[in-house]
Amino acid sequence: MKRTKIVNLLKADEKSLGQEFLVKGWVRTKRASKNIAFININDGSVIHNIQAVADVNNIDNEVLQNITTGASVAVEGVLIESQGKGQKYELEAKKVDLLGKADPEKYPIQPKKHSLEFLREVAHLRFRTNTFGAVNRIRHHMIFAVHKFFNDKGFYNIHTPIITGSDAEGAGEMFKVTTLDFDNTPRTEDGKVDYKKDFFGKATNLTVSGQLEGELAALALSEIYTFGPTFRAENSNTKRHLAEFWMIEPEMAFYDIHDNMDLAEEMLKYLIRYALDHCKDDLQFLNDRQKEEDSKKPANEREPMELIEKLNFILENDFERITYTQAFDVLRNSKPNKKGKFAFPVKEWGVDLQSEHERYLVEKHYKKPVIVTDYPKAIKSFYMKQNDDGKTVRGMDVLFPSIGEIIGGSQREEDYDKLHRRMEEMNIPKEEMWWFLDTRRFGTVEHSGYGLGFERLMLFVTGMGNIRDVIPFPRTPQNAEF
Ligand code: 4AD
Ligand code: MG
Repeated sequence: MKRTKIVNLLKADEKSLGQEFLVKGWVRTKRASKNIAFININDGSVIHNIQAVADVNNIDNEVLQNITTGASVAVEGVLIESQGKGQKYELEAKKVDLLGKADPEKYPIQPKKHSLEFLREVAHLRFRTNTFGAVNRIRHHMIFAVHKFFNDKGFYNIHTPIITGSDAEGAGEMFKVTTLDFDNTPRTEDGKVDYKKDFFGKATNLTVSGQLEGELAALALSEIYTFGPTFRAENSNTKRHLAEFWMIEPEMAFYDIHDNMDLAEEMLKYLIRYALDHCKDDLQFLNDRQKEEDSKKPANEREPMELIEKLNFILENDFERITYTQAFDVLRNSKPNKKGKFAFPVKEWGVDLQSEHERYLVEKHYKKPVIVTDYPKAIKSFYMKQNDDGKTVRGMDVLFPSIGEIIGGSQREEDYDKLHRRMEEMNIPKEEMWWFLDTRRFGTVEHSGYGLGFERLMLFVTGMGNIRDVIPFPRTPQNAEF
């Protein structure tokens, strides 16, 4: 008999009642009395289990003993309306096969609540929990939705390189890529490492962003996006930073910063709507999970909204659009700033916004997503379009509740001379970047783009609190197990 996935079985119509099906999956729980055993099986296709009800006299005793949490089984049986509460259907088992045992003394995932910290230590098995099943199914749907959104708008997906020869973006510390022998590194006459002898004949790194190459493509194909892994070797051990994360970077010719903001807002709303439409059961589970966790916290640490309510709230509100200077004024005059509550006091125009500031703007002041534009040029990258005031650039950050910065982007400087001068001021190696400058020499046009951190989006959509729990295998300082 062909196996039926549980997701399809639970969707079966009345006509399937009384028919035989084969289900395969992993045991979540087993309860057995003298005559009857209830086996709850999950195969990951959906958050719900199917319950198999078996006459114990029909199952080999050793098989029955070994049907424990985590074991894999195949059950053939008749689909019937459930007698118990909480499920529509169940399987009246005719045949129960044990596929793989899971020694209950050693299997770490038991049918009880495990802490997320503990589950990170057994990340190879945490997929088998409801929480990580839900997160990873939602992650899939969000990846698919990103491609659908851009494809439907006529954007082309470009693969930008993962190994890069330029370290000019300045977005973060980089990981070196080399085949040189560390115990016997070739040296130049002045004692420096001789990268001419390295694999690529030059120093190379893992990319921090696909933007610069994305710009090359946009200045020919008009509207492109990249969606690839990016790597940052900063030693930041926070709930919002990974050393390896995925970034979505659209880049558009003939877009100014307003077009850029419109696209960012439209995209975020599309992705959230997509999750609400396609991940109902998983979102409901995470919603209820968060509510339960919250109820254990002191009132002032609780989330102001339930997860699904918060997602809907984003759809219903226009994002607030303000300049850095407006944000600075709000923050400087804010209560927490006056009372010395910020770890980084807001005193002088020009300071970078910290996540505590971003969250104040979003959660306390405007009470909705905020897009901040026109940042001081000193705190932003060399490629951002310079404003006429000589002080600010056309950068834009999208700030979200609970997350802070979810998107960073800008209108790009398309003027060759201005870009060249800025690179000189910021000590960007122009010689290495000749190809980037060439786009401004040949047929330059106004253009813009941004980067959405995919795991930051996942944090928001799932309501999970730590970025290590929204990527299957997190890479953070001192941690690359699995
Ligand atoms: O603001 P960032 O550094 O911008 C860029 O890399 C630009 N080249 C993007 C562009 O214009 N094409 O990073 C963009 C986004 C951030 O807003 C954040 O969501 C995410 O990437 N991000 C991280 N996510 C997880 N871990 C980290 N260490 C991250 N650093 C940035
Ligand atoms: Mg940024």
